Amino acid sequence: MASNCQISTPEQYVDKLLDDVGYIKHIYDKSFLENSCGEGNILRGAVRRYIKSALSEGYSDEEIKKGLENHFVAYDTDPECVIRCIQSLNSVVEEFGLFNVNWNVTQCDYLKCKAQEYDYIVGNPPYITYHDLTEEQRAFLRLNFSSCKKGRFDYCYAFIEAGIRDLSPAGKLAYIIPYSILRNKFAESTRNLIKSKLTKLTDYKGIEVFPSIVTSSISIICDSQGSDGFEYENVFFNKTTKMKKDTLQGEWIWENTNEGERKFGDYFKVSNSIATLLNKAFIFDIDKFDEDFYYVKQYKIEKNIVYSAISAKTCKSNKGAHPKRKGIIFPYSISGSKLDHYDEIEFRKLYPECFKYLQQFSEELLNRKVNPGVKWFEYGRTQGIQHVFEDKLVFSLVITNSINLYDADSRSIPYAGAYIRVKPNSGMTLEKAKEILQTKEFLSYVKSKGTPTTTTSYRLSVKDIEEYKF
Ligand SMILES: C[S@@+](CC[C@H](N)C(=O)[O-])C[C@H]1O[C@@H](n2cnc3c(N)ncnc32)[C@H](O)[C@@H]1O
Repeated sequence: MASNCQISTPEQYVDKLLDDVGYIKHIYDKSFLENSCGEGNILRGAVRRYIKSALSEGYSDEEIKKGLENHFVAYDTDPECVIRCIQSLNSVVEEFGLFNVNWNVTQCDYLKCKAQEYDYIVGNPPYITYHDLTEEQRAFLRLNFSSCKKGRFDYCYAFIEAGIRDLSPAGKLAYIIPYSILRNKFAESTRNLIKSKLTKLTDYKGIEVFPSIVTSSISIICDSQGSDGFEYENVFFNKTTKMKKDTLQGEWIWENTNEGERKFGDYFKVSNSIATLLNKAFIFDIDKFDEDFYYVKQYKIEKNIVYSAISAKTCKSNKGAHPKRKGIIFPYSISGSKLDHYDEIEFRKLYPECFKYLQQFSEELLNRKVNPGVKWFEYGRTQGIQHVFEDKLVFSLVITNSINLYDADSRSIPYAGAYIRVKPNSGMTLEKAKEILQTKEFLSYVKSKGTPTTTTSYRLSVKDIEEYKF
């Protein structure tokens, strides 16, 4: 199961959810649902507020007890959680001299409950990736939730859909959910469900909300009555902006601290590395060689079809005294800066030893899902091969703290991550590219534009880097 399925919301975020959803006063006769209550962290905060607000509005202990019994509903599938949640709520009410509350907290699957209306729905629903759902769960969700009809959905999409469905006509919902919902292509219908009701979105990117898990979080506040715009709060940048909903198309990306005038991509070309789709066939450790051949086990490979294979990772680890070298077969013809494809007969004639070497992998090479027109002895994807023989900077598209850029000469071929080269007549140099990207402005851009892979690492695309303004 995904890591957060049993993780409780820390108290400060419970308070923030309750503040943002307006669960503050005049709540005596408002119903409250926690549909996946765990050990009751959110409920504890809500119950405390409920009692304080009711006491300040003059309700008696008896009325408050009745209110707690009638207006709070909570579910969890885990019987242990239900027991601990009730114990925890009892300890809260005892602080106010209230005893023997008959809590409506039950062991139940919320997604199988009959729809009912609530004035407040506040939660941190379980996140379970498609990969971790059982076939039975997938089939149930696909059948019952429009947000789970297509692709690799997450369990929490159904909780979002059911939560919005169960709001009373003036109901409000506050959820803390994974950041990936903003970007995941299979969350598009969930985003559309949220969109019309959304009044506030808090972005916790770069902030560790749940100490034990690495995914970044957002919280959403939805109002049954909908609204034209919404508030976007970025906690890391301590900035709140009023936004229009027409910005919410496709992936939801807004915060852009990138205010320079020149686009990186106008001066530099950023490309994905080559992708062989079977590295073990094309890349090998260089141990033995002579004037004409590299020797790999019982095979040999013509030296003039082999280049140096590099990645940000190998560049980093090769900083030692005895760097390990890797070779990569480049099965294309190059004349000057022009690159061409061999036909099989020609390739075999020119490089008989390399041909024999690759033949040992022929079955796996033939089984790759390659780009159209790719031959069995070529790289699976055509990306990155055209201009690879230029001086470049190699880097990883997952960036932590700062971007590490490694110089690579024209005879090195990057096989992971991406590379940057200078555009002709741009008047720029690779040194200048380093200066531009190794700034705190670029790091802020990474944090706002990148998709978090952990709370400190972000994945960017080559397009994101070309769009950076300096
Ligand atoms: C991330 S925890 C959140 C606990 C609590 N909401 C909090 O924020 O502290 C999610 C909880 O959902 C429960 N759960 C998982 N599937 C459920 C379902 N279908 N219906 C109700 N609860 C479920 C898990 O047992 C777990 O306690």
